Amino acid sequence: MDKVVDYDVKDLSLAGEGELRIDWASREMPVIRSIRERFAGEKPLKGVRISACLHVTTETANLALALKDGGADVALCASNPLSTQDDVAAALVGFGIPVYAIKGEDEKTYYQHIGAALDHQPQITLDDGADLVATIHKERQHLITGILGGTEETTTGIIRLRSLQDEGRLRYPIISVNDADTKHFFDNRYGTGQSTIDGITRATNILWAGKRVVVIGYGWCGRGIAMRARGLGAHVIVTEVDPIRALEAVMDGYQVMSSREAAKLGDIFITVTGGLNGLDRAHFRLMKDGAIMANSGHFNVEIDIPALESMARGKRRLRPFVDEYTVDDGRRLFLLGEGRLINLAAAEGHPASVMDMSFANQALSVEYIVKHGKELEPRVYPVPKDIDREIGRLKLLSMGITIDTLTDAQRKYLDSWESGT
Ligand code: NAI
Repeated sequence: MDKVVDYDVKDLSLAGEGELRIDWASREMPVIRSIRERFAGEKPLKGVRISACLHVTTETANLALALKDGGADVALCASNPLSTQDDVAAALVGFGIPVYAIKGEDEKTYYQHIGAALDHQPQITLDDGADLVATIHKERQHLITGILGGTEETTTGIIRLRSLQDEGRLRYPIISVNDADTKHFFDNRYGTGQSTIDGITRATNILWAGKRVVVIGYGWCGRGIAMRARGLGAHVIVTEVDPIRALEAVMDGYQVMSSREAAKLGDIFITVTGGLNGLDRAHFRLMKDGAIMANSGHFNVEIDIPALESMARGKRRLRPFVDEYTVDDGRRLFLLGEGRLINLAAAEGHPASVMDMSFANQALSVEYIVKHGKELEPRVYPVPKDIDREIGRLKLLSMGITIDTLTDAQRKYLDSWESGT
């Protein structure tokens, strides 16, 4: 153990197991590894206090260790009560990083842990869902003068931060990691796509082939889930509220219909809208006996659980992450992972290879904030394009893939407006 640190984790004796799994993930994270090596030599984050609210997984551990090797003083709490890997939390404490996260913590403990991470007086915040920034703006405003900037990992967090910005109340600059091409093209699509299917499979052991799977929301995550469910032989139905996304789903070859129509047909329903009540009482009334519901959107508000509870005349847990609700007319509806993001609740979240790019954006954005935070206004900024492209280049390099470069003549042609032929 590096030094004695403050912490609240489930069981420190799990640290050995966590270390092995962190090391395993690191094999699939060559970009973060190369950043970590550079950071260890250059110490660009020397003495910078960072509070991070992220899913406490093996991949996050590799990010935290890269930041620490860069000289930062990192404290970590969970961005979801069910997403913590307790062995990883223990291992990070062993590496000298204060961690406040226990899988299955109740809501009160979840917010106490956010408070504990903020007690470290951050100069930079790393958020996944904007709970850290929201807490600072609501309850810890005195911290703001010491904060250089922050980053945000996910779509829902960016929506919350833009709304804070639009009300003129965002008080420090945030870099939107989610909007980097090397983040949402890959993490949201391939990461959430694969790991959502993985979470549902681990929770239920269902056979996907031949099932009718209803994907609610055809954004970056929805596209990935639909694609992977189809790959397993499911019949995929998409529901949307955006006409262009709906049209895209039609032309990608899926059945598109209203959610009420889909409610009658689906065997498995997966919400990924980032919004409220994609599935509600009206849908529950129409669903078949045995329908399964899971959510992969950030918060547990996409399935109207209070409505389901109020309709139920019986509820029992059949196996971990599977709750059976018997509704008033006797039909049984199954809710997975208490409606929390199923890929993290019942599986391990995104594969390391994809988090390599997301977290490379985090690490390089932190370095950017250290260098330029003072010049930035309190608003949401994109990840600088050169960082995004560099991560793409490094990832390809790590895969041993070479691509072409434009010749001078090709570049000149593309840059000019005169020549049409
Ligand atoms: P997105 O903005 O690309 O897509 C959301 C889609 O849902 C949009 O096309 C929107 O029109 C649609 N939508 C909104 N309300 C709807 C409704 N009531 N019915 C049907 N469609 C509706 O967002 P993205 O990137 O796909 O993220 C979705 C959610 O997943 C967010 O909460 C995000 O934070 C979360 N997320 C979860 C991850 C995980 O590990 N489980 C990873 C990345 C993102």
